[in-house]
Amino acid sequence: MAPFLTSGIPRRRRVFVIAVLAFFIWALLPIESFNPPRRLVNSVMMMGGLELGASSPPGGRESMLKYVDPLIGTVNGGHVFPGATLPYGMAKAVADVDNWAEIAAGFVSDTSKVTGFSHLHDSGTGGSPSLGNFPLFVHPGCPNDDHLNCNYSGATRAVERIANSTVARPGYFSIALSNSVGYEMTASMHTTLFRINVPDQGDIVVSNGTTAPNSPLLLLDLTDLGKTRRGGSIQVDPETGRMTGSGKFSPSFGHGQYSAYFCADFSGAGIRKTGTFVKEKADEKVKAMGIDVGESAVPAGSAGGFVQFNRPLSSQFLARVGLSFKSVAQACQNAEKEIPGFDFDSVVKAGEKAWSEKLSVIQVDHTGVNEGFLTTFWSGFYRALLSPQDYTGENPLWNSSEPYFDSFYCIWDSFRAQHPLLTLVDPKEQTRMVRALIDIYKHEGKLPDCRMSFAQGYTQGGSNGDVVLADAYLKKLHDGIDWNLGYEAVVSDAEIEPEDWTRVGRGNLEAWKTYGFIPNDDNDKNHTGPQTRTVSRTVEYAYEDFTIALMARGLGKRDDERKYLERSKNWENVFDPDAADQYTDAGRGVIGSDFKGFMQPRSRNGEFTYQNMRLCSPVHEMHKCYFDTVYDTYEGSPWLYTFYVPQDMASLIVRLGGKEAFIDRLSYFHSSGIIYMGNEQSFLPTYQFHYGGRPALSSYWLHQYIPGQFNSSINGIPGNDDCAMGAFTTFAFMGFFPVAGQDVYLLTPPLFREVNLQTPTGRRATIRNIGFDPMYEAIYIQSAKLDGKPYTKNWIAHDFFYHGGLLELTLGRNESAWGTRDEDLPPSSSTQTWAP
Ligand SMILES: *[C@@H]1O[C@H](CO)[C@@H](O)[C@H](O)[C@H]1NC(C)=O
Ligand SMILES: *[C@@H]1O[C@H](CO)[C@@H](O)[C@H](O)[C@H]1NC(C)=O
Ligand SMILES: *[C@@H]1O[C@H](CO)[C@@H](O)[C@H](O)[C@H]1NC(C)=O
Ligand SMILES: *[C@@H]1O[C@H](CO)[C@@H](O)[C@H](O)[C@H]1NC(C)=O
Ligand SMILES: *[C@@H]1O[C@H](CO)[C@@H](O)[C@H](O)[C@H]1NC(C)=O
Ligand SMILES: *[C@@H]1O[C@H](CO)[C@@H](O)[C@H](O)[C@H]1NC(C)=O
Ligand SMILES: *[C@@H]1O[C@H](CO)[C@@H](O)[C@H](O)[C@H]1NC(C)=O
Repeated sequence: MAPFLTSGIPRRRRVFVIAVLAFFIWALLPIESFNPPRRLVNSVMMMGGLELGASSPPGGRESMLKYVDPLIGTVNGGHVFPGATLPYGMAKAVADVDNWAEIAAGFVSDTSKVTGFSHLHDSGTGGSPSLGNFPLFVHPGCPNDDHLNCNYSGATRAVERIANSTVARPGYFSIALSNSVGYEMTASMHTTLFRINVPDQGDIVVSNGTTAPNSPLLLLDLTDLGKTRRGGSIQVDPETGRMTGSGKFSPSFGHGQYSAYFCADFSGAGIRKTGTFVKEKADEKVKAMGIDVGESAVPAGSAGGFVQFNRPLSSQFLARVGLSFKSVAQACQNAEKEIPGFDFDSVVKAGEKAWSEKLSVIQVDHTGVNEGFLTTFWSGFYRALLSPQDYTGENPLWNSSEPYFDSFYCIWDSFRAQHPLLTLVDPKEQTRMVRALIDIYKHEGKLPDCRMSFAQGYTQGGSNGDVVLADAYLKKLHDGIDWNLGYEAVVSDAEIEPEDWTRVGRGNLEAWKTYGFIPNDDNDKNHTGPQTRTVSRTVEYAYEDFTIALMARGLGKRDDERKYLERSKNWENVFDPDAADQYTDAGRGVIGSDFKGFMQPRSRNGEFTYQNMRLCSPVHEMHKCYFDTVYDTYEGSPWLYTFYVPQDMASLIVRLGGKEAFIDRLSYFHSSGIIYMGNEQSFLPTYQFHYGGRPALSSYWLHQYIPGQFNSSINGIPGNDDCAMGAFTTFAFMGFFPVAGQDVYLLTPPLFREVNLQTPTGRRATIRNIGFDPMYEAIYIQSAKLDGKPYTKNWIAHDFFYHGGLLELTLGRNESAWGTRDEDLPPSSSTQTWAP
C-alpha cells in the first residue's frame, strides 16, 4: 500500500533518491556475507532491475546470522532496538524517529520521520524513551549554500525515510532518507561508526523544490530521546572538525541523573565550515559552549555543534563517535583504540564475527523447519544478548576491579528466562553479570532490582535479584564470584528494609515477619515506599525466601535454610479458599467461572478483602495495576498470581482441588483470554501443566503461542521485549524451560529435529527428537531415553547441561503416559527435597 516514495515529492527528486539508494545498496552488497532481506531485493528490482548476482548465500560459519531479523518487535509495543551493536554492547547506533509513543529504543518501523542517529540505547524496555544521546544528522547541503538556511532543531530537521529502505542485521543498520542522504552504521563496544552516503551530483534537492550545492552539513545535538538534558558542553575544532562534549541526563525509569560524553571525528571529506547552534540559530564564530569551557550553561533543548564539508570525493564520508560515561578524554580514547582507521567494513565484519560466535553456542538441525520459525528462533536468541550492557571501565560511581553491567531493566522481567538462558549459553558473561550485581550491593548496600544509566530504577515486585543469584549459585557459576558476599546480599533483601523501598529491597518487612504476609492495611512507618501490591509482593517474597533457602542449604547454613523454607510457605496466608471468580457487571450480568480459591488481599486482623479476580488481566481493566497505582497485584490479576508458587506447586494443587481441577483451571486461564503473553509472568504458567502430570498440555499451548503470539513478523512480539520475550522463545524452541531459582528445567519436545549445546566442561548436551514432524502435529513425548536409559521424569536438572549427555525423545500425535506419574513430576518443597 505505501508508495515507494512519500507523496508530494517531485518526480525529478525521485531520480536522485533512487540513484542514491541504488548506489547505497550496491555499496553494501560486497561486505555482506548473506542475502539482503527479500523486501530490499524487491525494492531494488522495482527501481530498474539492478544486478544482484553477487549476493548468493555462502552458508557456512555465519549462516545463522541470516535468520536474525533485528526489526522484529519494532512496532506493536515491542520497543526492540534494531540497530548496530555488539553482544551486551554499550554503543548502540540506530535512527531515532518522532513517533514519541513508541520510541523507547529510538526506532519504529512505521512512517514517522527520522530526527537523528544517536549512539546509546536500551532495548525492549517498557518505560519512557531511554538514552538516545547526542544524535547526529546530515543535510546534503543548505539552501542557497548558506549554513544559516539549514534546519538545526529536532523538530525542523526531521525528514521522511524512504519506504522499505531499512536494512538491519547483527552489527549493521542502514536507512535512506528522503533528503537524499543514506546512512549506514556499525559499532564496536563503546564507539559508533557511520558511513554517510550523499548523491554523486553537484546539486541536490534538499527539500521540496529547493536545490543546493552538494556540501554536506553534519550537526550533532546534545539532546537525548527523553529531552532530559541539563547543561553539558560542546566544542568544535575548526581544523580537524573533531567535536567533543557532554550532557547531564535523567534515567528513563528511575531517580537521579547521569552524565555522558562523546568524541566525534570525521573522515572522507574536507572541512569547510564549523560552528555551534542553539535551537535554529547556527553561529560559525562560536566554536564552544558550556561550563566545561568556561561559558554559561548550554540552554535546554536542541543545541550542539556542526561541521560542513566540501563535496565528498567518493560521495561518502565517515563519522566516528566514541562514547563514555566518565570523560571526554575516555570517549576519545575509546574511539581511537577501537576504530583507529575508520575501516567501516572491518568493524562490520568484527561485529558479525562476535555475533556469530555468541549464537553458534546453540547448534540446531534446521532440516524441515520453516523459515519463519528459524527467524523467530535466531532473532529471539539475538535479542536476549542485547542487554544488560557491559559498562565495565565506564562506571563513574566507584572504582572497582569487578565488572560493571548496567541496563538490568528490569530484573523482574529478566530473572525468569533471560538470566537462566545466559547461564546456559554464555556462562562466562552471566558470571560477570552476577559479579557486577554483587559489586553493586557492595557499593550501594542493596542488590539492584531495576537499573539503568547508573541509577536505581523502580521495584516492581519483590527483590528479584535474589532469584538471579540463587539460580547462578545452583547452576555452579563460580569464577571470581564471592558467594559469601552474594549470600549476604540476598539475606539483606530478606531482613533489612531499606530507607526507601521504592527502588531497592523489600518494604513492609516488619509486617512480613509478624504476620507472614503483607497486610493491605499495614502502615509501615519505619521507612518509605508504596504500601501497595500486597498480594503480588507476598507471593514473590515467599518465593525469593525459598531461593535463599536453597542457597543456604548449599552453603551449609542449616538454620537459615529452615528459616527461609518456613517463610517460603507464606503464600498460603494470602490464599482465600472462598474467593470466587464471579462479579456482576452492570449491563452484562454475572461474569466469571466456577473456580474458587484465589490469592487475595488480607488485613491485619486476618480478614480477606476483595480484589476482582480478573482485575488487570486483558479481560478486565487491564491497565490498572502499575507501579503508581493502588491495587494489590502488580501488572496482573489474582488469577495470574494464584499460580505463582513455583516452590511448592504440589501444595498449591491440593489447595486448588487436586490435579484434575488444577489442570482445568490452568487450561481455562490459557483459553479464556485472562493470560497475557506480553508479560513475563505468563512464561511459567505456559509450562505448569507439567506439575499436574500433563506435560503434553505445555507442549500444546506452546505451539499455540508460537507462532500465534511470537513470530517472525515485524509485530511478532506480544509485549515489550525486555530481552526476555526472546529468551522465552529460545527456550521454547530448544525444548525445555527453567524454573528460575531452582535446578529444574521442564521438558517439552524441541521445535527442531535436534538441539546441541556446548557445556562448560567442553562436551555436548544433545536433545534429539525421534519422529520429528516439522508440521508440528507430532508434538507429544511418548517416551524418552537419557544416555540410552529410559527416562520418565518430565523435567531435567542442570547437570545435563553441565556435563553433557544425550536425551532422546520419541514423539507422537497423541498425549501419552510419559511424565504423568507422581514420581515423574518436578520437585515441590512439600513433597521432595532437592540436592542443590
Ligand atoms: C514496503 O513494504 C510494505 C510492507 O512490506 C509493502 O506493503 C509495500 O508495498 C512496500 N513498498 C514498496 C514501495 O516496496
Ligand atoms: C511541495 O511543493 C509543491 C509546489 O510548491 C506544493 O504543491 C506541495 O504541497 C509541496 N509538498 C510538500 C510536502 O511540502
Ligand atoms: C526547514 O524547516 C522548515 C519548517 O519546518 C521546512 O519548511 C523546510 O522545508 C525545512 N528545510 C529543509 C532544508 O529541510
Ligand atoms: C577513582 O580513582 C581515580 C584515580 O585514583 C580517582 O581520581 C577517582 O576520583 C576515583 N573515583 C571514585 C568514584 O572514587
Ligand atoms: C522498624 O522500627 C522498629 C522500631 O524502631 C524497629 O524495632 C524495627 O526493627 C524496624 N524494622 C525494620 C524491618 O527495620
Ligand atoms: C504474530 O505475533 C503478533 C504479536 O503477538 C500477533 O499479533 C500476530 O497475530 C502473530 N501473527 C501470526 C501470523 O500468528
Ligand atoms: C490418537 O487419538 C485419536 C483420538 O483422539 C485416535 O483416533 C487415534 O487412534 C489415536 N492415535 C494413536 C496412534 O493412538
